[in-house]
Amino acid sequence: MPRPRVYVTRRIPRPGIDLLAKTCDVEVNPDDRPLSREELLDNIAGRDGVLCLLTDRMDARAFDACPGLKGLANYAVGYDNIDVAEATKRGVPISNTPDVLTDATAEMAWALLFAAARRVVESDRVMRAGAWKGWGPLQFVGGDVGGAVLGIAGAGRIGTAMALKSRGFGMKVLYFDRVRSERLEKELGARQVEFDDLLAESDYISIHCPLNEQTRHLFGREQFAKMKTSAYLINTARGPIINEAELVEALRSGAIAGAGLDVYEFEPETAGGLAALDNVVLAAHTGSATRSSRTNMALKAASNLIAMLNGDQAPDCVNPDVYRGGRV
Ligand code: DGY
Repeated sequence: MPRPRVYVTRRIPRPGIDLLAKTCDVEVNPDDRPLSREELLDNIAGRDGVLCLLTDRMDARAFDACPGLKGLANYAVGYDNIDVAEATKRGVPISNTPDVLTDATAEMAWALLFAAARRVVESDRVMRAGAWKGWGPLQFVGGDVGGAVLGIAGAGRIGTAMALKSRGFGMKVLYFDRVRSERLEKELGARQVEFDDLLAESDYISIHCPLNEQTRHLFGREQFAKMKTSAYLINTARGPIINEAELVEALRSGAIAGAGLDVYEFEPETAGGLAALDNVVLAAHTGSATRSSRTNMALKAASNLIAMLNGDQAPDCVNPDVYRGGRV
């Protein structure tokens, strides 16, 4: 039987490629940059399997380019870059990479929370500029973390991990999610609240929901106005969950105290004026960027793709309906 033809849209950690190469003919985008739209469509043409990234838009046109596709493995836990309904209609199974980046992303949310609250980057800039004149009681005064109220928007895997890591800081935890989290309630005494209560009561809100039509611009001017002026907003999920231009206004006007962002509405761009503000910490979408997470994501995406190419259900299939329809 001929070996399946697989395309990997960007270099990923080697163990993932090596795993694929055991059973497939693998071609990898040789350049460490995202493919242009035309390059993507050209390169996926005629493939049996594709391993893509969150920066690749996989829509009807992309599926048209590879009509024989037997599986699409996303190298990310979020898969808003893929038109899953379209894939399901065409009988194409899709997988993602949950679990292996849960702690890394939750830790990044904490890194941003601390950096924003304690003004770490702002004072680092002053130090590097040689502008520090010595200790002063009114300098770089920030938010208290211990004993504060932590609000979790989206209590899935990463939101739960973020909340559980608050244990050492004696925080009161609130969460907003459709689904009740017995774990958070039992282990932390966390309280499930309405969205408006999360906004009004939290000192820190950390966003962990997926991006979809219900969560796009979940945070904007109206929501910032309901938050405490001393509150901080942390986002390690997806940029478009926040209306970024309105966040700039809120940070400028003091509607909220600060923000820590790892993701942006129009990556890799940031909203006008955002980068000039001192009360925001900006990371470069590095939530999963630890050595083990990125390697395990590669292994997971590769194993999922191999399963799909064998006609088996991928362990991390996000559209299992394709199997029920008997299309695969
Ligand atoms: C994801 O997995 O969705 C992150 O955004 C990148 O690792």
